[in-house]
Formats: sequence, C-alpha cells, structure tokens
Amino acid sequence: MAYSAKIGPSILSSDLSCLGSECVRMMECGADYLHLDVMDGHFVPNITFGHPMVESLRKSSVQEAFFDMHMMVSRPEQWVKPMAAAGANQYTFHLEATSNAGNLIKEIRESGMKVGVAIKPGTAVEELAPWANQIDMALVMTVEPGFGGQKFMEDMMPKVSWLRSQFPSLDIEVDGGVGPDTIHKCAEAGANMIVSGSAVIGNDDPRSVIALLRTVVAEAIQKRSLDR
Ligand code: DX5
Ligand code: ZN
Repeated sequence: MAYSAKIGPSILSSDLSCLGSECVRMMECGADYLHLDVMDGHFVPNITFGHPMVESLRKSSVQEAFFDMHMMVSRPEQWVKPMAAAGANQYTFHLEATSNAGNLIKEIRESGMKVGVAIKPGTAVEELAPWANQIDMALVMTVEPGFGGQKFMEDMMPKVSWLRSQFPSLDIEVDGGVGPDTIHKCAEAGANMIVSGSAVIGNDDPRSVIALLRTVVAEAIQKRSLDR
C-alpha cells in the first residue's frame, strides 16, 4: 500500500499572534505536516495570509515541516512561483478556481512542489478523476471552505470511497469538521491525509488527539490491505 496515515493540523485555528510557536508546538505534538489555509476574500468570503507569512514561518520556526498550502483563491496560477520561493512543499488548488487545470499542474510541478487538487462540497468527484493520475493528492472538502469550526458533512464520504476505489494508491485528504467524533467515517471511506483544526488545536492535549486520529486511519488502511 503506497499511502500512509498522516495528520496535518490546520493552524488557522491557532492563536495567530503566535503562529510560529504554534507551528512548532504542533510538530512537537506529532503532526506529520502542517496545513496552511490561504484565503483571498474572493474565492471564499474570508481572508487569511499569503506567501510572505509562509516565508517567515519557513525561515524562523519550522524549517523541516512539510507545508501543504490549501489555496482558497480565485487565481491559483498567480501564486505558484511566490509560494515555491517562500518554501511551500505542496500546492493544493481548487478545481473550481481554474479553467486550465492541466497547465496549472504542470506549472506547480516545474516549480518543484507537489500537486494537490481540491473540490468543494458542490463539485462532483468525477470532475477530479481526469487529473487523479497526474497529482499527488486529492482533497475532498467536508465543509464549505472559508472558516474553521464548521460541522462535518458526512455526505461527502461517498466521494472519498469512490476515489479510493478508483485510485488505490492516491493520497486522499479530508478537511473540515474532522476530529475524534468524525474520523472513523473518513478512515473507513479511505482518506489517509487528515486535516484537523479546532479539534486538535482547541484541545488541551493535542498530542493525544493527533495520535488517536492517526491510529484510527492506520487501522483502516491495515484492514483494507488485508481485505484485498
Ligand atoms: C476551512 C479550512 C480548514 C479549516 C479546518 O475552509 O480549509 O482547513 O481550518 O478547520 P476545522 O477542522 O476546525 O473544521
Ligand atoms: Zn483547509
């Protein structure tokens, strides 16, 4: 089985005045990667931060961490080079935000980053399928993008199951409302990269939550490999 269980806290839920130390704290608590939410106030009704913040985080605090950039922006083409230069490792763009996904995938690769493609709840998973063999990760949103702390949409799980059945070795990420109460559904459906914001960062013991999420996903992966 090519993929493994990975947990990526969404640092949007942290005390943003201490972002550097919060990133360090999450890595020390066992995070496998960090999920960084970029919002432009246009693709989603909220704004967060851009590549200068990523550059600072990379230089100052978390030099080794894997940065998964969740680009909730209208013109994802615009930020590929700046994000690569800032030290991003993976560039996850929204399929809804581009009319030329093939070219964008190529540009991201040429800039040296891994490629992720995200779909909003209203987008059919079949739209992602043509790109799945060219990308490193598919992100199935389990809330409407824009805000942390929303309710998990269980009705997105068939998208994850379908992707897992069609692309057995693809990294599949879920994002939105994922925590100890909802992780079993995600794991059973076949997700292996787990974004969790408020459930991890809002907990007094993030280390235990991260370990729990990883265990549930790892067990589901193990079970799936035995069933094959
Ligand atoms: C929402 C973001 C998520 C969010 C997750 O648009 O993409 O990454 O921060 O936060 P929780 O886990 O609290 O839903
Ligand atoms: Zn996100």
